[in-house]
Amino acid sequence: MNDEITALSPAKINLTLDIVGTRADGYHELRSIVHTIGIYDTISLRFGGEGLRFRCDKSELGGEENLCFKAAHAWSQAADRVLDCEIELQKRIPVGAGLGGGSSNAATILNALNAHFDEPVDGSALLGIATHLGADVPLFLRGGCALMEGIGEKLTPLRSLEGWLVVVQPLQTLSTPQVFRTHDALKIPSSHATDRVLKAIGNGATLTGIAPLLDNNLTRAATSHVPEIDSLIQEMRKAGSVNSLMTGSGSAVFGVCDDEENAQRVLEVVRGKHDLTFVDVAQLI
Ligand code: C5P
Repeated sequence: MNDEITALSPAKINLTLDIVGTRADGYHELRSIVHTIGIYDTISLRFGGEGLRFRCDKSELGGEENLCFKAAHAWSQAADRVLDCEIELQKRIPVGAGLGGGSSNAATILNALNAHFDEPVDGSALLGIATHLGADVPLFLRGGCALMEGIGEKLTPLRSLEGWLVVVQPLQTLSTPQVFRTHDALKIPSSHATDRVLKAIGNGATLTGIAPLLDNNLTRAATSHVPEIDSLIQEMRKAGSVNSLMTGSGSAVFGVCDDEENAQRVLEVVRGKHDLTFVDVAQLI
């Protein structure tokens, strides 16, 4: 058995995000079409030594509070196995961005451990652990394109799409609970973009074909805290992206582009006008 594995942990974008209700516990019911993208963190698992250890190249993300540690711990309990393993996370996906990096890391670790030890935890138990760790974690067990419902735990796989994006994050990050609270206070109605995009995907539409239909219900709430989100969206549209919108609860923004060349052009324009924490082109995966 190999005593080291390395796995890539991808980011996601929300192509649509509709808030359709509020639950008694304060969580929001949503309908969202999500797609994994080719921006990755790298996770190494080195077996041996004593106990479970976790470290991250961004030291502020290290420690037992990290979802990586929690995922490995939850898996070892479900598998009834003592884990002697050092987990190392190399972070590239920006945090506080709505790109799902932490959730992806957790799912990648669950999949990697289960594969390494010959699948001692069955699929539905793995899904249960993932849901318990966070609303976005189940999506990353499989990746690709999916409809997320409930608070994120109800997943319906959809046909994967192909295409190029520019992904940027302004300097300011956002707290997810704060954005949801502001959304409630502003009483913003759902635009039901998810229904329209589902229909178009069902009819065989491409990424650029659905681009004009995309919408994120949380944009106004997020923009009220970080106005630069809106300037980035407008800037990217002007620079030639087919459409551009915020992902998740922000603060990252993506532009849908015709091809790689178009994406690189938009990247150069936006980079020239804004101070950014992150900017890159990426493909849907
Ligand atoms: O699941 P996650 O830890 O990302 O959620 C962070 C916070 O975002 C929750 O505590 C809640 O305030 C808000 N949230 C929500 N409805 C969701 C997902 C998150 O209200 N479906």
